[in-house]
Amino acid sequence: MPNNLLAGKKGIIFGALDENSIAWKVAERCVEEGASITLTNAPVAMRFGQIKDLAEKLNAEIIPADATSMEDLENLFTKSMEILGGKVDFVLHSIGMSINVRKGKEYTDLNHDWMQKTFDVSAISFHKMMQVMWKLDAINDWGSILALTYIAAQRTFPDYNEMAESKALLESFARSFGYHFGMRNKVRVNTISQSPTMTTAGSGVKGFTEFFGYADKMSPLGNAPAETCADYCVSLFSDLTKMVTMQNLYHDGGFSNMGMNPAVLGL
Ligand code: NAI
Repeated sequence: MPNNLLAGKKGIIFGALDENSIAWKVAERCVEEGASITLTNAPVAMRFGQIKDLAEKLNAEIIPADATSMEDLENLFTKSMEILGGKVDFVLHSIGMSINVRKGKEYTDLNHDWMQKTFDVSAISFHKMMQVMWKLDAINDWGSILALTYIAAQRTFPDYNEMAESKALLESFARSFGYHFGMRNKVRVNTISQSPTMTTAGSGVKGFTEFFGYADKMSPLGNAPAETCADYCVSLFSDLTKMVTMQNLYHDGGFSNMGMNPAVLGL
């Protein structure tokens, strides 16, 4: 139910590919709560994804940007400020990609050029995005920046592969840039550590369906779906969470604090 939590706010949502994407749900919820947004994704996603349908539905413009390109990011923020009529109040980074995962490479036999690419797309892009915002002075005071992450940054989940290191790096960028943005602009920077979710990126991980079921049983509340992740993002973009920054926030139905759940063993 909409509560106008983001009335008058402007934002940019990265990473809506199709209707399963977490960013898709976040974009819908933000607009429902009164925000105006622009949407962005990699140029290749314009051809394969369904982002145009979302843009039409939400009356939002799409500005293609490869999140690893500083030039694309500068264009994205400059154009977004023109379209939205000023600086933004919130940004969602919802981007992940690993060629090693896609090609089924084992952790002990990774291609390191691809690993560099994984880090660039999935983690360094977050730093690049924030550096562009910093230099363009593109975010209003008391704004909110969020990225999506996964608990493999803290604990070992073998099939998550090098994405684990990617997420560790991403979460660290949130803390480090959170300091700078907090001091200069009172802007908060956080990561949300989300449950396994059936999306294009998620289901690319080996054994994902079995693991999804395991995590669902392990979590007292079950796996958190993309829709409630969107609700959580809205709360973190809203003025109700102004003093929350530099945090990795679990949105996982309790999974992260479980040791063992008898339900997993069918007891
Ligand atoms: P998704 O596949 O729908 O979204 C990933 C997005 O990254 C796509 O829209 C893709 O086009 C975009 N992307 C890839 N390379 C890019 C580039 N160079 N420039 C700009 N965009 C690029 O999948 P999902 O699951 O919605 O992923 C969103 C975020 O949530 C990712 O950071 C993912 O790691 C994270 N996450 C996902 C979980 C899951 O189980 N699905 C669990 C925890 C976190």
